[in-house]
Order: sequence, then C-alpha cells, then structure tokens
Amino acid sequence: MKIAVIGTGYVGLVTGTCLAETGNDVICVDINASKIEKMQQGELPIYEPGLELLFHRNIQQGRIRFTMDLQSAVEHAEIIFMALPTPPGEDGAADLSYILGAAKDIAALLTGYKVIVNKSTVPVGTADKVKAVFESHTSIAVDVISNPEFLREGVAVEDFMKPDRVVIGTSSERAKKLMSELYAPYVRQGNPVIFMDERSAELTKYAANSFLATKITFMNEIANLCELVGADVDAVRKGIGTDERIGKRFLFPGIGYGGSCFPKDVQALVKSADEHEYNFEILKSVITVNEKQKVILADKLLQYYDNEISGKHFALWGLSFKPETDDIREAPALYLIETLLKNGASVSVFDPEGQENVKSIFNNRISYAENQYAALEGADALLIATEWSLFRNPDFEKMAELLKEKVIFDGRNLFELEKMTELGYYYNSIGRKL
Ligand code: UGA
Repeated sequence: MKIAVIGTGYVGLVTGTCLAETGNDVICVDINASKIEKMQQGELPIYEPGLELLFHRNIQQGRIRFTMDLQSAVEHAEIIFMALPTPPGEDGAADLSYILGAAKDIAALLTGYKVIVNKSTVPVGTADKVKAVFESHTSIAVDVISNPEFLREGVAVEDFMKPDRVVIGTSSERAKKLMSELYAPYVRQGNPVIFMDERSAELTKYAANSFLATKITFMNEIANLCELVGADVDAVRKGIGTDERIGKRFLFPGIGYGGSCFPKDVQALVKSADEHEYNFEILKSVITVNEKQKVILADKLLQYYDNEISGKHFALWGLSFKPETDDIREAPALYLIETLLKNGASVSVFDPEGQENVKSIFNNRISYAENQYAALEGADALLIATEWSLFRNPDFEKMAELLKEKVIFDGRNLFELEKMTELGYYYNSIGRKL
C-alpha cells in the first residue's frame, strides 16, 4: 500500500519504518530540513533499539523515502498518517495547532479520496475538528480516523511489529477495510484489531496512559508507606502482582514516572475532564504524588546529610527517563541534578545514551564521565536514577575504591538488600528497609 507519514518524531519514524518493513511504499515528511537531510543520507536521528537495522534495510530496498515536499507525499499516498506533536499548552490542554495546520495543508493538495489517520495522542473530539478542517477547505471526500499508538520507547519496534492490540476509531466501512488490510501482517498471532468510534478511540489512549500512571503512582505510595511501617515493597509487589486482576507488570516503584507521554497525557485528561465540568480527582492526586516522588531521592539524601551538602560531590548513574532510550524529557534525574546544584553540591553523571541531551541543559554546570566507574571518582555517594541493565551487576569492590564512602541512594531498587549489607554499604532504596 502507498503510505505517507507526516512528522518524523519517535512515533512517525517508527510507524513509517515498520510499515515499510512489511512491504508498503512509504514517504515520510517533516518540516525540519536538517533532519530530513540527515535521514536522506541514511542517518537515524533517534536512538531506538532495533530501529536502525530496519531503517537502513528499507531505505536500501527503496521502500521508505524522506522529503519536505508534502505535495508529492499526498499525491503518492492512499493512507496518510499524522504523527505530529501535541505539546501541552500553558493550561495543560493539548495544543492542536500542528495537527489542524497539517490538515489544512493536506486538504489544499488533495486530488482524490484518502484515509487520514491520526496517530498522535489527541483530546476527544479532535477527529471531528480535523474533519471540519477538511470539509471547509476541500470538496473531496476523506475519512478522518483515530488510530492511537501504544508503543513504548525502548521497545517501540517490537510494540509496533507485534502489538497487543490495534485500536481503530472510524465509522467508515471503506477506511475499516483499508486499515484491516494494512495491519493484517502485524496481528497474525491473533491479537485483535479493535474497531470503535473515533471518540472512544481517542479516549482509549488517554485512559490507557492515565491508568498506567495511576498504577505506578499507587505503588510509589505503597513503597513510601512500606518504609514507615517497616515492610518491603518488593515482597508486597510480588504478593499482589500474582493476582491476575492486578498483574505483575508496571508495579515497580521508583522516583516517579517521566517521559514525553505520561506527564503530558495525565495533565491533558484532567484538563479535558475539567472542560466538561468533571472533576477527575484520582488523576489530580496522581499528578501531585508524582511531583513529590520525583524529588524523593534528593529528600532522602538531604536528610542523610542533615541538609548540608554544600561542597560535597555526588555521582549520578542514569539520566534518561527510563532505560534503552536517550530521551530525557521529564526525567527524574533532571530534578535530582537541579536540587543537588541548588544546594551547593557538584555532580558527575554517566548515562549510556542520555548524556548528549543532558549537556544541552546543564552544559559545564556538571561533569560528564566516560563510564559508570569514572563518575564515582572522589564522590561522597552514588545516586541511581535509571535502571539501565549495565548498572545491575557492577563491581562493588572497584566502586568502594573509587567512592569516598560506601553510600548509595538507589531510586530504582537495583540491588539485593542482603548483598549490600554484606558488602558494608549504606544502601537507601525505595520502599525497602535501610
Ligand atoms: C508510555 C506507554 O507505556 C505506551 O503504551 C504509550 O504508547 C506511550 O507512553 C505514549 O503515549 O506514546 P513510554 O513513555 O515510552 O510509554 O514509557 P513507559 O515504559 O510506559 O514508562 C513511563 C514511565 O513510568 C517511566 O518514567 C518509567 O520509569 C515509569 N515506570 C514504569 C515506573 O516507575 N514503574 C514501572 O513499573 C513502570
């Protein structure tokens, strides 16, 4: 099938590449000239495991191209995906200007029927707004449908190639047929393509992300309580996760959810509910609790040093908001660094992928280590903000030689308590005994 993807961010690029991989003929469009040039030269602008291989293979075999020319893409495609940003406006509501602007531009270039697919996370009613833009700018019929994306950064390719489910919001039989055909290779195992109306599909995405953010936040509060009552959150997690109604996944406490999706989407759903005069209380609490959780490691550290960390030096492992990504948007590590600097401490950081992105924020206010051990040299303590696999089984003896004191504040519960006691470390983690 002939496809256009407008917007080459994480979602657009993964969508375009994975659609090319099953034999579709894909054109990706972006307004960012330098990004398009780089991709035309075979350079992938993001780090996403598994994407590089597919990206190069499909460029080589001529199934994916990159351009700034919207007209050629619109002429080429029977299905046009919009994967454009919906940043939160000042009031937390999603800003639709990119999407509505692109709809207007596409409308002006139409020569025949197309399916316009919205992949971005957008408030309920957006498909209707996009439809209205088409209706007022062209007499050519289009179907505007909602097809929210559930991919996770770090495993995005796998999520796209083998989705748990595909959600498609449309009442048009013609669009349903085309989309069923397009997604058939991805759901061969029998995972469902769930058809529904546009508004339900739009709300499904917000409900999924908000539910997951609530699940994490609930566990973070259980963890905080565990510390006060002398329980172990790992045991509690296993104890409840084996109940199938709760499930084992997404129950890991930490230093708050971050990233480009959960914080923005929870805010937007609250805002959307407010606009309909519905007070979404549980989500309002989720936002408040998560803000507190993001600073919990800094709070623990300040408490340990009686609020006096001026002149101290700390090592920080992990900057990205989660492992296997270079994405640092809303990453708890950023708040941690800010707090340490504000209190007069210095910081040396290491992250396998997120380092470059952090440089653009902190420049020479912090130092950047070449590897995880170099970050420890002369540090008063180690802080851990992201659970990268390479941090899970470090050389504790080497660490003890490099650190001034054997002190670790771990925001991701990487190590066994018994082992740390045996090794003589002061080890402060989340929801577990000291
Ligand atoms: C999330 C959703 O999981 C995807 O389904 C969705 O498509 C995507 O947002 C989106 O809206 O585009 P992502 O932001 O990549 O994906 O990250 P997650 O793996 O969901 O993690 C989100 C945050 O929750 C991270 O900060 C992570 O550290 C935290 N988390 C996750 C926990 O603290 N504990 C857990 O048990 C799981």
